Amino acid sequence: MNNYKKIGIKKFLSLLGDTEKDFIKNSSAESYENFLKVFYENPLRYRSLTREEEKSAILQILKKIDADTQKIAEPYRVKEWEDGWNENYTSFAQSKDFNDLTPKFTRVQNLVRFDKNIIYAESEFFEKTFVKVLQNYLIYRYFSNYKNMYEFGCGSCINIIETATKLPNINLHGTDFVAPPVNILRELNSNFFKNRIESSLFDMMNPDYNLKIKENSCILTSGAIEQLASKYDKFIDYLLLNKPDLCIHIEPIYEFYSDDTLLDFVTKKFHSQRNYSSGLYNKLKELEKDEKINVITANRTSIGSLNMEGYNIIVWRVT
Ligand SMILES: C[S@@+](CC[C@H](N)C(=O)[O-])C[C@H]1O[C@@H](n2cnc3c(N)ncnc32)[C@H](O)[C@@H]1O
Repeated sequence: MNNYKKIGIKKFLSLLGDTEKDFIKNSSAESYENFLKVFYENPLRYRSLTREEEKSAILQILKKIDADTQKIAEPYRVKEWEDGWNENYTSFAQSKDFNDLTPKFTRVQNLVRFDKNIIYAESEFFEKTFVKVLQNYLIYRYFSNYKNMYEFGCGSCINIIETATKLPNINLHGTDFVAPPVNILRELNSNFFKNRIESSLFDMMNPDYNLKIKENSCILTSGAIEQLASKYDKFIDYLLLNKPDLCIHIEPIYEFYSDDTLLDFVTKKFHSQRNYSSGLYNKLKELEKDEKINVITANRTSIGSLNMEGYNIIVWRVT
């Protein structure tokens, strides 16, 4: 018997701190319809875990923490990113198939996170499907209001491709601190998207102020601030000076976990052992207190892979 529940549209929007009314008011009815189409074409189905399954899943995370050796932002990671994206670039340059750009770290697993719990997804591609729906949410809810979108730490460039495909009038600029993503974007620009895509090397820990953000622009980071081992102050300063019209972060946020549940407590251990960035939310709230920025939305989406919630949303703008 099929006992899977489907995540409904109201619930999905609430995870992002949004409602249908606000979506339409801040974007348009047409954009909302476009988003709904993608949402209904990509159903997200799951069931709850039994107590035994839940215990075994938490044990799996604890064992991962024990065995894990990855450390974010260590010098050896530069080559790992370079080699990983270069593999994607080489396949894509030959095949011209966007599927060859799928990040190799995209997890294929049924045990994922939703609503602050571990759940069993009907499809092992749940996370990939969720990312597609989330991309389209950002595109129609936010990016469609601007002439330019910049992504920092764009890696595989899948966010740039989806945005360029869905919004034929937007100009895009992708940056990363290693060269292969820039090479991927050059291919995309000349072969697919008619000079709508610019690209540059950019180290978020040491921003290049020669890269000026154009008027009428929004910026995105998606799993990129997490990689800075909390050294994001210079990047935020760069944004404060350049004043994009809107800044959107899709990132794991340490401060969103609580100390009062077993799963959150274990997840905080995973997050800090890897040395993923922490404190971004608190920093932005401080800047808001000092009247330098407005935080428009900051929501724990509570969706993620087995090991952590990587897709929280924070939206802000310089005052
Ligand atoms: C987890 S991947 C996310 C890629 C892409 N944003 C996505 O959503 O698929 C993290 C990205 O951050 C980039 N990165 C790591 N450290 C960086 C730094 N100091 N400056 C800029 N990018 C960095 C990596 O090369 C990689 O592309």
